[in-house]
Amino acid sequence: MSAPVVVLVGPMGVGKTTVGELLAQRLGTTCRDTDADIVEAEGRPIADIFVEDGEEHFRALEAAAVRAALAEHGGVLALGGGSILDEDTRKLLSGLPVVFLDMDVAEAVKRVGLDTARPLLAVNPRRQWRELMEARRPLYTEVARAVVGTEGRTPEDVADAVLDALELKNA
Ligand code: S3P
Repeated sequence: MSAPVVVLVGPMGVGKTTVGELLAQRLGTTCRDTDADIVEAEGRPIADIFVEDGEEHFRALEAAAVRAALAEHGGVLALGGGSILDEDTRKLLSGLPVVFLDMDVAEAVKRVGLDTARPLLAVNPRRQWRELMEARRPLYTEVARAVVGTEGRTPEDVADAVLDALELKNA
């Protein structure tokens, strides 16, 4: 199987899955999501994996899920927000058509601030998000071929911008 045609990275709630599905429709392919792969393989929600086995265990599952998806999936691939924390994952992403979907803190709080299904933002979401993004922004930028801002844009607009950025418009 060939490498993914688009890989979406970025913080939780930025719309990777929604935009990924739209991109897949437009490109005539399918969207795969590593969070969904993990939930399916484990038979339990991500929040339960964090609580029962800890973040480190989740990150190991995630690195394996990303490696498998990159090897198997030729369509659009949406990665979990923290997947780029893993150095091997960042190496695997180098040279691939990776797009960083970005958003500012105001937009993040609007979209995911009260979403307790996302364990990392369950307490004090605004501060948590700022700290997460301070640590992660350089990593998202490092792996990305293009950065697309999502503030005030519909998922359709974001999908358009991704296709433009990767010059896939007429693919
Ligand atoms: C996480 C993001 C989540 C999920 C987990 C941890 C993170 O994925 O993998 O809750 O560390 O940013 P989404 O980015 O798909 O929400």
